[in-house]
Amino acid sequence: MSGSLINLIYLIAGILFILGIKGLTKPKTAVRGNFLSALGMLIAVVVTLFTINDVDFTYVLAGVGVGGIVGVVMALRIQMTSMPQMVALLNGFGGGASLSIALAEYVTRTGINPTSVSDFFQPTAVAASAFGEGAEATIALMSISLTVLIGAVTLTGSLVAFSKLQELMKKSYGLPGGPVGNGILLLGALAAVAFLVMNPGNTMAMVAILGLALLLGLFLVMPIGGADMPVVIALLNSYSGIAAALAGFILGNTVLIIAGSLVGTSGLILTRIMCVAMNRSLANVLFGKMAAGGETIDADEIYDGKVTSAQPDEVAMLLETAQRVVIVPGYGMAMAQAQHAVRELADAMESKGVEVEYGIHPVAGRMPGHMNVLLAEAEVPYDKLVEMERINPTFEDTDVVIVIGANDVTNPMARDVEGSPIYGMPILNVDKAKTVVVIKRSLSPGFAGLPNPLFAMDHTLMVYGDGKKAVIEMTTALNQL
Ligand code: TAP
Repeated sequence: MSGSLINLIYLIAGILFILGIKGLTKPKTAVRGNFLSALGMLIAVVVTLFTINDVDFTYVLAGVGVGGIVGVVMALRIQMTSMPQMVALLNGFGGGASLSIALAEYVTRTGINPTSVSDFFQPTAVAASAFGEGAEATIALMSISLTVLIGAVTLTGSLVAFSKLQELMKKSYGLPGGPVGNGILLLGALAAVAFLVMNPGNTMAMVAILGLALLLGLFLVMPIGGADMPVVIALLNSYSGIAAALAGFILGNTVLIIAGSLVGTSGLILTRIMCVAMNRSLANVLFGKMAAGGETIDADEIYDGKVTSAQPDEVAMLLETAQRVVIVPGYGMAMAQAQHAVRELADAMESKGVEVEYGIHPVAGRMPGHMNVLLAEAEVPYDKLVEMERINPTFEDTDVVIVIGANDVTNPMARDVEGSPIYGMPILNVDKAKTVVVIKRSLSPGFAGLPNPLFAMDHTLMVYGDGKKAVIEMTTALNQL
């Protein structure tokens, strides 16, 4: 195959990746987007295999077979709610793959042939041209060592993220000095990179980069709380892309550079979107907790004597006479697994002529698209899921808003109280509706740990109980009216 034909096919694969990512931005086109990206990757892999002479297809086919079976079984068995863990593992594997490529390339180019572990600790005489001449050699060595660094951080960081989300690791551990300790590990690894670039045969430097980076991945993620993990996973996703793009430079493979850059940048964009939607800086997610100030807000002062509660059958009467109802789901709906019950309530309202829509906040729940995925599972039509910017202007014309298990994303303090830790976080303005019904088990705070003045407003009714049970009771009562 000629070089220009290969590059043309790589370009087509790159276009398929971009169309795939574009498709993934909307639930309606997500399946097609996924298919297009997978097709792009298949084309890229097949063409790459045919450009390499001397490929032993036994290993390739064995890898595809084993990997394919593991992938299919994992994808079929995974619960919707465990998706973040799966993404974390896949990021880790991506980082591990780039790391392996870089190590293999280093061993091949230096010609070292270790017969025992101790051989790694002996400097090796490397042929002057092993990594090319002048700047070429510097770029090759930089690409290899940085791929090892970023790939190793991604690998161990993602494994910790997986363990936290799977609740295998319940405590948070960190290095003494926190960010300073991590900074020392990073500086040590970068110093080893510089040393290796100047002394390509010094295997000790490579061992040091690998060891320090594996530790850095562990200690970067271990102190971070489980609820912040989705942001960390988006960031690790970006790291895995950067490692893959660097591996593309090592192999001189254009399509790997394109794919890695796309993953790297889209992961960064997603990280930023999540931070903006939570009104938190990345540094705050990585090194701290929510901004201070929450502890000075007295919940009793906000709630005392001002909260009105109601029973599901009383709410059903309100719903029967409403013209427009908006359902606002949050983390509690996921916890209660109430999505099917919610859809049945919406069906019951619609059968009585009520217009029903869903207001979706970008960080409702604990992962991007959490609510969309759950409601899609319950077969709620996509066009009924309305994003924050579009639903907010409609609340004034809404008779009833049903907030189910959502808290922070409806907290008016984010809009009105300047000193509050969530001030500036965009919210769903549910308090503008004529009546607000909040379903949750108590007045306990949500992820941000703050009281919510919405619960004490005159036009708010609190329905205490498990989300699924309360919604089922509402539907039963409504159907009997
Ligand atoms: P939260 O503010 O966390 O509130 C969830 C509420 O659900 C709680 O107040 C809880 O109250 C209630 N709840 C729990 N189990 C329930 C059940 N079985 N039945 C009924 N209610 C139940 O949720 P939110 O409004 O969705 O906001 C999400 C928060 O997570 C935001 O602060 C966001 O910044 C943060 N976050 C989101 C993401 C992404 S990407 N989505 C990532 C990291 C952090 P009770 O205990 O009283 O029932």
